[in-house]
Amino acid sequence: MDNVLRHAAIIMDGNGRWAKQRGLPRTEGHKKGAEKVQIALETAREIGLQYLTLYAFSTENWNRPPEEVNALMELLVYFLDEKLPYLMKNNVRLLATGRIDQLPETAVKKLRFTEEKTAGNTSGTLILALNYGGRAEIVDAAKKLMRKTLDGAVKPEDLDEETFSRELYLPQVPPVDLMIRTGGEKRISNFLIWENAYAELYFTSVLWPDFGREEFLAAAEDFRHRGRRFGRVSETTDPEKL
Ligand code: FPP
Repeated sequence: MDNVLRHAAIIMDGNGRWAKQRGLPRTEGHKKGAEKVQIALETAREIGLQYLTLYAFSTENWNRPPEEVNALMELLVYFLDEKLPYLMKNNVRLLATGRIDQLPETAVKKLRFTEEKTAGNTSGTLILALNYGGRAEIVDAAKKLMRKTLDGAVKPEDLDEETFSRELYLPQVPPVDLMIRTGGEKRISNFLIWENAYAELYFTSVLWPDFGREEFLAAAEDFRHRGRRFGRVSETTDPEKL
């Protein structure tokens, strides 16, 4: 069994519904959701997580009304400004994953700035998935490999999972151990397709703006009781886990 929780990834779903329930615009739900990231970060540190990846904007989210997209981008820039002192004080590194260069210029600049400032921080890594799609990431990796093949740097017969994964956006980050989705849906929605291959999945109906420390601890506790086998034969005699 390998129940060490190093990397958790969260699909932060339910902001819109949280706002609707209160008669507020959807953007208020996103604001509250962005505030909840602080609690998630603190809880991640409390349970000794090394990597926390948050799905903040998917490649599909561009299809939302332009006001909502703009509000999310503004919130991102505000979030990065506001969080930098916390990240520095707590020695946390920030990384972005996704097709970052296609985001608005102010967001790209702020992301690159925050990545540079926090590059030497070593006690944990917060990863924001932005303009991210799991299939897009795999396609982008395949493109890089095809170019290398055309250049003669890689031969098709040398390609294996290890060499392929080196072309992903963040090859240095270990695979996801626990994937949490809030908001009641039970889907992966194109999130970290490759990295989630052996992740334990945890779904909760709690909406993201209501997801606090207790909910995160419950997910981590649930993970501890999973029998992770990575395709191997079970070594447990517990009939519930066979
Ligand atoms: C899904 O809720 C959430 C998003 C599309 C964006 C997630 C963004 C945040 C939590 C705030 C920004 C975060 C950072 C780090 C700046 P939804 O709108 O799909 O909710 P619904 O399913 O109830 O409509």
